Amino acid sequence: MNQLLRPIFAEASKQSSPIRAMFETGLRLKKEFGEDAVCDFSIGNPDVPAPKQVKEGMMELAKKADQPLAFGYTPNAGSGEIRELLAKYLSEEQGYPVEAADVMLGVGAGAVMCNVFNSCLEAGDQVLGVAPFFAEYTGWAESFGGTYKAIPVNSDFSFNLPAMEAAITPKTRVVIYNSPHNPTGYVYTEAEIKGLVDILRKKGKEYGRPILLVADEPYRFLTYGGEKVPSVLPLYEYSCVVSSFAKNISLPGERIGYLAACKDMPGKIDFVAAIIAANRRLGVTSAPIIGQELLKYCLGHNTDAETYAKRRTVMADVLTRAGYKFNMPAGAFYFFPIAPGGDDLAFVKILAEQRVLAVQGTAFGMPGYFRLSFCVSEEIIKRSFEGLKKAREIVEGK
Ligand SMILES: Cc1ncc(COP(=O)(O)O)c(C=O)c1O
Repeated sequence: MNQLLRPIFAEASKQSSPIRAMFETGLRLKKEFGEDAVCDFSIGNPDVPAPKQVKEGMMELAKKADQPLAFGYTPNAGSGEIRELLAKYLSEEQGYPVEAADVMLGVGAGAVMCNVFNSCLEAGDQVLGVAPFFAEYTGWAESFGGTYKAIPVNSDFSFNLPAMEAAITPKTRVVIYNSPHNPTGYVYTEAEIKGLVDILRKKGKEYGRPILLVADEPYRFLTYGGEKVPSVLPLYEYSCVVSSFAKNISLPGERIGYLAACKDMPGKIDFVAAIIAANRRLGVTSAPIIGQELLKYCLGHNTDAETYAKRRTVMADVLTRAGYKFNMPAGAFYFFPIAPGGDDLAFVKILAEQRVLAVQGTAFGMPGYFRLSFCVSEEIIKRSFEGLKKAREIVEGK
């Protein structure tokens, strides 16, 4: 044990993210066998280019790059002008009024979520959510003294509300859900969210303290079949949306995200101020200025969702023909099929031997499944058929 380190970070230093590990395996295999020999479905790194407004905005920003303060500090919450624009955009997107004062810009949805946990958790507190879950939730909660309690979803990937209710304790400070969901592609219905809100109201009353509900929504733009993702904001006053432009504008590396608090939240001014203060406490200070400025040009212009829709159809066809069982994703860009043989860890290794890279469900708190990200071309998806079929046959002894 390295005595310089806090025990949880000494532990974290030994565990690389399984997603990143598979992504790095992919890079190694591509170098060894050639780009075309590997079908890498490991990481949700959007490969569909950013809309043209991003390039146009970059060109405009480049013209000002030699001006004083072109790359200056911005307020911790982000530029006032951008917060105004974002609030207007979110009011439309959420179908509910969002005010500029209730919006803050941060360093991707990830850092904003950390701001929430930093502001709300004390040692021993609980963040409640579902399994499978976005793999970083556990580490984020632990970094701020909390734990992430995961309640398995039903077989159709919907909330198991009675189990969620039973898991709430006086230590439950934050409940988090992600929709459209990574890794299942499930989109929670308004009835489900209302059901969860009813439980939070009841438990909040019982314990004499409100419970915050966070909707993690980077994939909101991506539903198939025209489904609208219900907004949490009109349903519960102690709610906020955390999201980013990583997926809808394909800007994941630019690290630009935000929080929007419900306008009716009691104590909202202090809540938002605390989330902004967490930008200072975390040392990130503010969202990157280029990302903020870019929003003036590209807010409201998304990447091409049709490309993802076509890939989803192709992937479903490949998986069906290769003999896999899965629920069709209603949103986001992932499939979460059942791992043949039941042992997801063993299965993704066998799949990798066929040079098809996936992530074990265990990494998302749901053994027995595996995740495929379709941030790759249709050609690669089609090419993965043989490897997928062979891996299943090996495991099933056929
Ligand atoms: C469900 C979910 N939440 C949060 C994030 C983090 O997003 P960002 O890159 O904006 O930090 C991701 C990224 O993949 C995600 O899938």
